[in-house]
Amino acid sequence: MTVTVSATLAVNEALADKRRQGVRVLPLGFGEAGLPVHPVMRDRLTAGNGANAYGPVAGSAALREAAAGYWARRGLPTDPDTVIAGPGSKPLLYGLLLALGGDTAIAAPSWVSYAAQSRLVGSRPLLVPTATGEGGVPQPDLLHAAVTAAREAGRTVNAVIATLPDNPTGTVATRATVRRLAEVARELDLVVISDEIYRDLVHPEGPEAAPVEVHSPAEFAPERTVISTGLSKNLALGGWRIGVLRLPDSEIGRRLRGGLLGVASEIWSSPAAPIQEAAAHAFTEPAELVDHVDRSRRLHGIVARAVTDVFARAGAAVVPPRAAFYLYPDFEPLRERLTELHGVTTGPGLTGLLLDRFGMGVLPAVEFGEGPEALRMRVATSLLYGDTEERRYAALAATDPLALPWIRAYLDRLGEVLGALLAGPVGAPVLRTRVTVPTSVR
Ligand SMILES: Cc1ncc(COP(=O)(O)O)c(C=O)c1O
Repeated sequence: MTVTVSATLAVNEALADKRRQGVRVLPLGFGEAGLPVHPVMRDRLTAGNGANAYGPVAGSAALREAAAGYWARRGLPTDPDTVIAGPGSKPLLYGLLLALGGDTAIAAPSWVSYAAQSRLVGSRPLLVPTATGEGGVPQPDLLHAAVTAAREAGRTVNAVIATLPDNPTGTVATRATVRRLAEVARELDLVVISDEIYRDLVHPEGPEAAPVEVHSPAEFAPERTVISTGLSKNLALGGWRIGVLRLPDSEIGRRLRGGLLGVASEIWSSPAAPIQEAAAHAFTEPAELVDHVDRSRRLHGIVARAVTDVFARAGAAVVPPRAAFYLYPDFEPLRERLTELHGVTTGPGLTGLLLDRFGMGVLPAVEFGEGPEALRMRVATSLLYGDTEERRYAALAATDPLALPWIRAYLDRLGEVLGALLAGPVGAPVLRTRVTVPTSVR
Protein backbone atom coordinates (compact mmCIF):
# COMPACT_ATOMS: atom_id res chain seq x y z
CA MET A 1 0.00 0.00 0.00
CA THR A 2 1.43 3.40 -0.92
CA VAL A 3 0.16 6.82 0.01
CA THR A 4 1.22 10.04 -1.66
CA VAL A 5 2.63 13.13 -0.03
CA SER A 6 0.47 15.35 2.07
CA ALA A 7 -2.12 17.69 0.59
CA THR A 8 -1.01 20.36 3.04
CA LEU A 9 2.55 20.15 1.84
CA ALA A 10 1.40 20.25 -1.77
CA VAL A 11 -0.61 23.40 -1.24
CA ASN A 12 2.35 24.96 0.53
CA GLU A 13 4.60 24.23 -2.41
CA ALA A 14 2.06 25.63 -4.83
CA LEU A 15 1.98 28.83 -2.75
CA ALA A 16 5.77 29.01 -2.68
CA ASP A 17 5.73 28.84 -6.50
CA LYS A 18 3.22 31.66 -6.66
CA ARG A 19 5.35 33.73 -4.31
CA ARG A 20 8.37 33.23 -6.53
CA GLN A 21 6.30 34.47 -9.46
CA GLY A 22 5.58 37.61 -7.47
CA VAL A 23 1.93 36.75 -6.72
CA ARG A 24 0.54 38.01 -3.41
CA VAL A 25 -0.44 34.86 -1.51
CA LEU A 26 -2.81 34.04 1.32
CA PRO A 27 -1.28 31.11 3.23
CA LEU A 28 -4.28 29.36 4.79
CA GLY A 29 -3.41 25.76 3.99
CA PHE A 30 -0.75 24.60 6.42
CA GLY A 31 -1.67 23.55 9.97
CA GLU A 32 1.50 24.54 11.75
CA ALA A 33 1.21 26.48 15.02
CA GLY A 34 3.15 29.39 13.52
CA LEU A 35 4.71 30.61 16.78
CA PRO A 36 8.27 30.81 18.12
CA VAL A 37 9.95 28.40 20.54
CA HIS A 38 9.81 29.63 24.13
CA PRO A 39 13.32 30.56 25.43
CA VAL A 40 12.93 28.15 28.36
CA MET A 41 12.51 25.29 25.92
CA ARG A 42 15.55 26.38 23.91
CA ASP A 43 17.62 26.38 27.10
CA ARG A 44 16.34 22.98 28.16
CA LEU A 45 17.13 21.50 24.79
CA THR A 46 20.66 22.90 24.89
CA ALA A 47 21.12 21.57 28.42
CA GLY A 48 20.06 18.10 27.26
CA ASN A 49 22.40 17.88 24.30
CA GLY A 50 24.82 15.54 26.07
CA ALA A 51 22.11 12.86 26.37
CA ASN A 52 23.15 10.31 23.78
CA ALA A 53 21.94 6.96 25.11
CA TYR A 54 18.90 5.41 23.43
CA GLY A 55 17.09 4.98 26.71
CA PRO A 56 13.89 2.99 27.32
CA VAL A 57 11.63 2.27 24.32
CA ALA A 58 8.63 3.73 26.18
CA GLY A 59 10.49 6.96 26.91
CA SER A 60 12.39 8.18 29.96
CA ALA A 61 10.92 7.80 33.44
CA ALA A 62 11.10 11.59 33.90
CA LEU A 63 9.06 12.25 30.77
CA ARG A 64 6.47 9.59 31.55
CA GLU A 65 6.06 10.91 35.09
CA ALA A 66 5.71 14.46 33.86
CA ALA A 67 3.11 13.42 31.27
CA ALA A 68 1.22 11.50 33.96
CA GLY A 69 1.13 14.70 36.03
CA TYR A 70 -0.14 16.66 33.03
CA TRP A 71 -3.11 14.31 32.69
CA ALA A 72 -3.73 14.19 36.44
CA ARG A 73 -4.12 17.99 36.39
CA ARG A 74 -6.85 17.48 33.79
CA GLY A 75 -8.83 15.14 36.01
CA LEU A 76 -7.31 11.93 34.65
CA PRO A 77 -5.05 10.32 37.27
CA THR A 78 -2.38 8.40 35.38
CA ASP A 79 0.17 5.74 36.23
CA PRO A 80 3.45 6.63 34.45
CA ASP A 81 3.74 2.98 33.41
CA THR A 82 0.73 3.46 31.14
CA VAL A 83 2.46 6.30 29.25
CA ILE A 84 4.44 5.72 26.06
CA ALA A 85 6.43 8.51 24.44
CA GLY A 86 7.42 8.55 20.78
CA PRO A 87 8.76 10.82 18.03
CA GLY A 88 5.46 12.68 17.60
CA SER A 89 1.92 11.56 18.27
CA LYS A 90 1.55 10.63 14.61
CA PRO A 91 3.97 7.65 14.67
CA LEU A 92 2.47 6.62 18.01
CA LEU A 93 -0.99 6.54 16.42
CA TYR A 94 0.38 4.53 13.54
CA GLY A 95 1.99 2.03 15.91
CA LEU A 96 -1.26 1.80 17.80
CA LEU A 97 -3.26 1.06 14.65
CA LEU A 98 -0.76 -1.67 13.79
CA ALA A 99 -1.05 -3.12 17.28
CA LEU A 100 -4.86 -2.97 17.14
CA GLY A 101 -5.37 -4.63 13.75
CA GLY A 102 -8.76 -4.63 12.06
CA ASP A 103 -10.60 -1.62 10.66
CA THR A 104 -11.01 1.71 12.44
CA ALA A 105 -14.01 4.04 12.42
CA ILE A 106 -13.09 7.66 11.85
CA ALA A 107 -15.00 10.90 11.62
CA ALA A 108 -15.85 12.58 8.31
CA PRO A 109 -14.42 15.14 8.18
CA SER A 110 -11.28 14.34 10.14
CA TRP A 111 -7.53 14.93 10.11
CA VAL A 112 -6.02 13.60 6.89
CA SER A 113 -3.63 11.13 8.51
CA TYR A 114 -6.14 8.82 10.20
CA ALA A 115 -7.49 7.44 6.93
CA ALA A 116 -4.03 7.34 5.35
CA GLN A 117 -2.54 5.49 8.31
CA SER A 118 -5.45 3.02 8.37
CA ARG A 119 -4.74 2.21 4.74
CA LEU A 120 -1.01 1.93 5.42
CA VAL A 121 -1.60 -0.69 8.09
CA GLY A 122 -3.71 -2.62 5.58
CA SER A 123 -7.14 -1.83 6.94
CA ARG A 124 -10.06 0.18 5.61
CA PRO A 125 -11.26 3.32 7.37
CA LEU A 126 -14.97 3.30 8.19
CA LEU A 127 -16.06 6.91 7.69
CA VAL A 128 -18.85 8.17 9.96
CA PRO A 129 -20.23 11.73 9.66
CA THR A 130 -20.01 14.23 12.50
CA ALA A 131 -22.75 16.62 13.63
CA THR A 132 -22.32 20.27 12.60
CA GLY A 133 -20.53 22.16 15.35
CA GLU A 134 -19.29 18.93 16.95
CA GLY A 135 -16.38 18.05 14.74
CA GLY A 136 -14.00 15.23 15.51
CA VAL A 137 -16.52 12.79 16.97
CA PRO A 138 -18.37 10.34 14.73
CA GLN A 139 -22.08 10.72 15.52
CA PRO A 140 -22.55 7.96 18.08
CA ASP A 141 -25.80 6.53 16.68
CA LEU A 142 -24.42 6.53 13.15
CA LEU A 143 -21.27 4.90 14.50
CA HIS A 144 -23.34 2.17 16.07
CA ALA A 145 -25.17 1.53 12.81
CA ALA A 146 -22.02 1.68 10.66
CA VAL A 147 -20.00 -0.69 12.84
CA THR A 148 -22.89 -3.13 13.14
CA ALA A 149 -23.41 -3.14 9.37
CA ALA A 150 -19.68 -3.52 8.69
CA ARG A 151 -19.46 -6.44 11.08
CA GLU A 152 -22.48 -8.07 9.49
CA ALA A 153 -20.68 -7.72 6.18
CA GLY A 154 -17.76 -9.65 7.65
CA ARG A 155 -15.42 -6.78 8.55
CA THR A 156 -13.51 -6.61 11.80
CA VAL A 157 -13.81 -3.16 13.35
CA ASN A 158 -11.70 -2.71 16.47
CA ALA A 159 -11.45 0.99 17.17
CA VAL A 160 -12.87 4.45 16.72
CA ILE A 161 -10.88 7.70 16.59
CA ALA A 162 -12.09 11.00 18.05
CA THR A 163 -10.35 14.38 17.84
CA LEU A 164 -11.02 16.67 20.79
CA PRO A 165 -10.79 19.58 19.97
CA ASP A 166 -11.06 18.99 16.26
CA ASN A 167 -8.89 19.55 13.23
CA PRO A 168 -10.27 20.51 10.60
CA THR A 169 -13.26 22.35 12.13
CA GLY A 170 -11.82 23.94 15.29
CA THR A 171 -14.97 22.84 17.13
CA VAL A 172 -15.30 20.73 20.29
CA ALA A 173 -17.89 17.99 20.79
CA THR A 174 -20.13 18.39 23.84
CA ARG A 175 -19.89 16.32 27.00
CA ALA A 176 -23.13 14.52 26.10
CA THR A 177 -21.79 13.49 22.69
CA VAL A 178 -18.46 12.33 24.10
CA ARG A 179 -20.28 10.35 26.75
CA ARG A 180 -22.56 8.72 24.20
CA LEU A 181 -19.53 7.89 22.04
CA ALA A 182 -17.94 6.16 25.03
CA GLU A 183 -21.15 4.20 25.70
CA VAL A 184 -21.41 3.03 22.10
CA ALA A 185 -17.74 2.04 22.13
CA ARG A 186 -18.38 -0.05 25.23
CA GLU A 187 -21.49 -1.66 23.75
CA LEU A 188 -19.57 -2.56 20.61
CA ASP A 189 -16.30 -3.41 22.35
CA LEU A 190 -14.32 -0.77 20.45
CA VAL A 191 -11.11 0.84 21.64
CA VAL A 192 -11.46 4.65 21.59
CA ILE A 193 -8.45 6.61 20.40
CA SER A 194 -8.86 10.17 21.58
CA ASP A 195 -6.49 12.58 19.85
CA GLU A 196 -6.28 15.51 22.26
CA ILE A 197 -3.34 17.36 20.76
CA TYR A 198 -5.33 20.63 20.65
CA ARG A 199 -6.70 20.28 24.17
CA ASP A 200 -4.76 23.23 25.59
CA LEU A 201 -5.68 25.53 22.73
CA VAL A 202 -9.31 26.20 23.61
CA HIS A 203 -9.93 29.87 22.93
CA PRO A 204 -10.36 31.94 26.06
CA GLU A 205 -13.62 33.76 26.51
CA GLY A 206 -14.27 36.12 23.59
CA PRO A 207 -16.85 38.88 23.36
CA GLU A 208 -19.66 36.50 22.45
CA ALA A 209 -18.65 33.15 23.91
CA ALA A 210 -17.61 31.39 27.08
CA PRO A 211 -14.69 28.98 26.67
CA VAL A 212 -15.78 25.44 26.02
CA GLU A 213 -14.80 22.53 28.21
CA VAL A 214 -13.02 19.59 26.65
CA HIS A 215 -14.21 16.20 27.83
CA SER A 216 -12.23 13.08 27.11
CA PRO A 217 -13.86 9.72 26.41
CA ALA A 218 -11.41 8.49 29.08
CA GLU A 219 -13.78 10.07 31.66
CA PHE A 220 -16.58 7.77 30.56
CA ALA A 221 -14.90 4.63 29.25
CA PRO A 222 -11.53 4.62 31.03
CA GLU A 223 -10.93 0.93 30.42
CA ARG A 224 -10.83 1.33 26.63
CA THR A 225 -9.68 4.87 25.86
CA VAL A 226 -6.20 5.71 24.60
CA ILE A 227 -5.32 9.41 24.63
CA SER A 228 -2.67 10.93 22.41
CA THR A 229 -1.11 14.34 22.70
CA GLY A 230 2.17 16.16 22.19
CA LEU A 231 3.88 19.53 22.13
CA SER A 232 3.50 20.27 18.42
CA LYS A 233 0.50 22.52 18.81
CA ASN A 234 0.38 24.04 22.30
CA LEU A 235 4.11 24.86 22.30
CA ALA A 236 4.54 24.96 18.52
CA LEU A 237 7.25 22.27 18.64
CA GLY A 238 6.12 20.15 15.69
CA GLY A 239 9.64 19.92 14.31
CA TRP A 240 11.01 18.58 17.58
CA ARG A 241 8.97 15.43 17.08
CA ILE A 242 7.71 14.37 20.47
CA GLY A 243 4.36 12.90 21.48
CA VAL A 244 2.87 10.81 24.26
CA LEU A 245 0.13 8.21 24.59
CA ARG A 246 -1.85 7.41 27.72
CA LEU A 247 -3.00 3.81 27.58
CA PRO A 248 -5.90 2.55 29.67
CA ASP A 249 -4.97 0.96 32.97
CA SER A 250 -6.78 -2.26 32.05
CA GLU A 251 -6.39 -5.58 30.30
CA ILE A 252 -6.96 -3.82 26.96
CA GLY A 253 -4.28 -1.26 27.83
CA ARG A 254 -1.71 -3.89 28.77
CA ARG A 255 -2.29 -5.79 25.55
CA LEU A 256 -1.90 -2.63 23.47
CA ARG A 257 1.21 -1.61 25.41
CA GLY A 258 2.96 -4.84 24.52
CA GLY A 259 2.03 -4.53 20.84
CA LEU A 260 2.96 -0.88 20.60
CA LEU A 261 6.32 -1.29 22.35
CA GLY A 262 7.14 -4.07 19.91
CA VAL A 263 6.43 -1.75 16.96
CA ALA A 264 8.31 1.14 18.59
CA SER A 265 11.34 -0.98 19.35
CA GLU A 266 11.60 -2.04 15.70
CA ILE A 267 10.95 1.36 14.15
CA TRP A 268 12.17 4.29 16.25
CA SER A 269 13.82 2.55 19.26
CA SER A 270 13.20 5.49 21.56
CA PRO A 271 12.32 9.17 21.24
CA ALA A 272 15.33 11.54 20.82
CA ALA A 273 16.93 11.85 24.25
CA PRO A 274 17.60 15.63 24.40
CA ILE A 275 14.04 16.30 23.23
CA GLN A 276 12.71 14.02 25.96
CA GLU A 277 14.59 16.03 28.57
CA ALA A 278 13.08 19.27 27.33
CA ALA A 279 9.62 17.68 26.97
CA ALA A 280 9.73 16.36 30.54
CA HIS A 281 10.14 19.94 31.69
CA ALA A 282 7.30 21.16 29.46
CA PHE A 283 4.86 18.56 30.79
CA THR A 284 5.44 19.76 34.35
CA GLU A 285 3.81 22.99 33.10
CA PRO A 286 5.97 25.66 34.74
CA ALA A 287 4.28 29.07 35.04
CA GLU A 288 6.17 30.68 32.15
CA LEU A 289 5.08 27.96 29.71
CA VAL A 290 1.48 28.08 30.94
CA ASP A 291 1.58 31.81 30.30
CA HIS A 292 3.01 31.22 26.81
CA VAL A 293 0.23 28.74 25.97
CA ASP A 294 -2.35 31.20 27.34
CA ARG A 295 -1.07 33.94 25.06
CA SER A 296 -0.99 31.55 22.13
CA ARG A 297 -4.58 30.43 22.52
CA ARG A 298 -5.71 34.00 22.93
CA LEU A 299 -3.98 34.91 19.66
CA HIS A 300 -5.38 31.82 17.89
CA GLY A 301 -8.88 32.71 19.09
CA ILE A 302 -8.73 36.37 18.04
CA VAL A 303 -7.35 35.68 14.57
CA ALA A 304 -9.53 32.62 13.90
CA ARG A 305 -12.63 34.64 14.88
CA ALA A 306 -11.64 37.54 12.65
CA VAL A 307 -11.13 35.18 9.70
CA THR A 308 -14.47 33.51 10.46
CA ASP A 309 -16.16 36.92 10.28
CA VAL A 310 -14.68 37.58 6.84
CA PHE A 311 -16.06 34.27 5.52
CA ALA A 312 -19.43 34.85 7.16
CA ARG A 313 -19.68 38.36 5.67
CA ALA A 314 -19.00 36.90 2.24
CA GLY A 315 -22.02 34.60 2.70
CA ALA A 316 -20.34 31.28 3.59
CA ALA A 317 -21.87 29.21 6.41
CA VAL A 318 -19.29 28.79 9.16
CA VAL A 319 -19.48 27.51 12.72
CA PRO A 320 -17.27 29.78 14.84
CA PRO A 321 -14.25 27.76 15.97
CA ARG A 322 -13.71 27.33 19.71
CA ALA A 323 -10.18 25.96 19.73
CA ALA A 324 -6.96 25.65 17.72
CA PHE A 325 -6.32 27.61 14.53
CA TYR A 326 -8.75 26.21 12.01
CA LEU A 327 -12.19 26.88 10.63
CA TYR A 328 -14.24 24.98 8.12
CA PRO A 329 -16.44 27.33 6.10
CA ASP A 330 -19.09 25.94 3.78
CA PHE A 331 -19.82 27.68 0.46
CA GLU A 332 -23.03 25.71 -0.08
CA PRO A 333 -25.21 28.86 0.33
CA LEU A 334 -23.20 30.36 -2.55
CA ARG A 335 -23.29 27.31 -4.80
CA GLU A 336 -25.53 28.79 -7.49
CA ARG A 337 -23.47 31.91 -7.71
CA LEU A 338 -20.20 29.98 -7.92
CA THR A 339 -21.58 27.78 -10.67
CA GLU A 340 -22.98 30.71 -12.58
CA LEU A 341 -19.85 32.84 -12.29
CA HIS A 342 -17.11 30.26 -12.53
CA GLY A 343 -18.62 26.91 -13.44
CA VAL A 344 -17.53 25.63 -10.04
CA THR A 345 -19.49 22.62 -8.77
CA THR A 346 -17.03 20.81 -6.50
CA GLY A 347 -14.87 21.57 -3.47
CA PRO A 348 -11.60 20.90 -5.31
CA GLY A 349 -12.89 23.08 -8.17
CA LEU A 350 -13.42 25.92 -5.73
CA THR A 351 -10.12 25.62 -3.86
CA GLY A 352 -8.27 25.20 -7.18
CA LEU A 353 -9.83 28.43 -8.42
CA LEU A 354 -8.89 30.24 -5.22
CA LEU A 355 -5.31 29.08 -5.58
CA ASP A 356 -4.90 29.69 -9.30
CA ARG A 357 -6.65 32.99 -9.58
CA PHE A 358 -6.11 34.55 -6.17
CA GLY A 359 -3.06 32.86 -4.63
CA MET A 360 -5.17 31.65 -1.71
CA GLY A 361 -4.19 28.24 -0.34
CA VAL A 362 -6.84 26.21 1.51
CA LEU A 363 -7.73 22.52 1.49
CA PRO A 364 -11.01 21.11 0.15
CA ALA A 365 -13.25 18.89 2.29
CA VAL A 366 -12.40 15.91 0.12
CA GLU A 367 -8.95 15.80 1.76
CA PHE A 368 -10.69 15.23 5.10
CA GLY A 369 -12.83 12.32 3.94
CA GLU A 370 -15.87 14.17 2.61
CA GLY A 371 -17.32 13.91 -0.90
CA PRO A 372 -15.96 16.08 -3.76
CA GLU A 373 -19.32 17.84 -4.08
CA ALA A 374 -18.98 19.40 -0.60
CA LEU A 375 -18.05 23.07 -0.94
CA ARG A 376 -16.40 23.10 2.47
CA MET A 377 -12.75 23.85 3.01
CA ARG A 378 -10.28 23.88 5.85
CA VAL A 379 -8.79 27.24 6.55
CA ALA A 380 -5.71 27.32 8.82
CA THR A 381 -5.13 30.76 10.31
CA SER A 382 -1.79 30.41 12.08
CA LEU A 383 0.45 31.41 9.20
CA LEU A 384 -1.11 34.87 9.27
CA TYR A 385 0.91 35.75 12.40
CA GLY A 386 3.88 36.66 10.26
CA ASP A 387 6.73 35.10 8.38
CA THR A 388 9.55 36.19 10.67
CA GLU A 389 10.21 35.29 14.26
CA GLU A 390 10.08 38.96 15.16
CA ARG A 391 6.56 39.34 13.77
CA ARG A 392 5.37 36.20 15.49
CA TYR A 393 6.65 37.46 18.83
CA ALA A 394 4.95 40.77 18.16
CA ALA A 395 1.68 38.94 17.39
CA LEU A 396 1.93 36.99 20.64
CA ALA A 397 2.62 40.11 22.66
CA ALA A 398 0.03 42.37 21.01
CA THR A 399 -3.05 43.42 22.96
CA ASP A 400 -4.79 43.85 19.63
CA PRO A 401 -3.10 41.54 17.11
CA LEU A 402 -5.63 42.54 14.46
CA ALA A 403 -4.12 46.01 14.44
CA LEU A 404 -0.70 44.70 13.39
CA PRO A 405 -0.21 45.83 9.80
CA TRP A 406 0.71 42.41 8.36
CA ILE A 407 -2.24 40.64 10.00
CA ARG A 408 -4.57 43.48 8.99
CA ALA A 409 -3.26 43.26 5.42
CA TYR A 410 -3.98 39.52 5.27
CA LEU A 411 -7.51 40.02 6.58
CA ASP A 412 -8.17 42.83 4.11
CA ARG A 413 -6.79 40.73 1.28
CA LEU A 414 -9.03 37.84 2.27
CA GLY A 415 -12.05 40.15 2.15
CA GLU A 416 -10.98 41.38 -1.30
CA VAL A 417 -10.46 37.85 -2.61
CA LEU A 418 -13.84 36.62 -1.44
CA GLY A 419 -15.45 39.80 -2.75
CA ALA A 420 -13.82 39.33 -6.16
CA LEU A 421 -14.71 35.63 -6.20
CA LEU A 422 -18.37 36.33 -5.70
CA ALA A 423 -18.65 39.53 -7.71
CA GLY A 424 -17.72 38.04 -11.04
CA PRO A 425 -16.82 38.83 -13.72
CA VAL A 426 -19.02 36.38 -15.56
CA GLY A 427 -16.72 34.75 -18.06
CA ALA A 428 -16.18 31.44 -19.64
CA PRO A 429 -16.56 28.77 -16.95
CA VAL A 430 -13.14 27.83 -15.66
CA LEU A 431 -12.72 24.13 -15.20
CA ARG A 432 -10.19 23.35 -12.55
CA THR A 433 -8.56 20.21 -11.42
CA ARG A 434 -7.72 19.53 -7.79
CA VAL A 435 -4.61 21.05 -6.37
CA THR A 436 -3.87 17.37 -6.09
CA VAL A 437 -2.57 14.82 -3.81
CA PRO A 438 -3.97 13.03 -0.88
CA THR A 439 -3.01 12.40 2.65
CA SER A 440 -1.03 13.18 5.64
CA VAL A 441 0.75 15.73 7.76
CA ARG A 442 -1.13 18.54 9.44
C1 LIG B 1 -5.35 16.10 14.87
C2 LIG B 1 -3.86 15.98 14.82
N1 LIG B 1 -3.26 14.95 15.44
C3 LIG B 1 -1.93 14.79 15.41
C4 LIG B 1 -1.13 15.67 14.71
C5 LIG B 1 0.36 15.42 14.60
O1 LIG B 1 1.00 15.62 15.72
P1 LIG B 1 2.53 15.26 16.00
O2 LIG B 1 3.32 16.44 15.56
O3 LIG B 1 2.53 15.01 17.47
O4 LIG B 1 2.89 14.02 15.23
C6 LIG B 1 -1.70 16.75 14.05
C7 LIG B 1 -0.85 17.69 13.28
O5 LIG B 1 -1.30 18.38 12.44
C8 LIG B 1 -3.11 16.91 14.11
O6 LIG B 1 -3.71 17.92 13.50
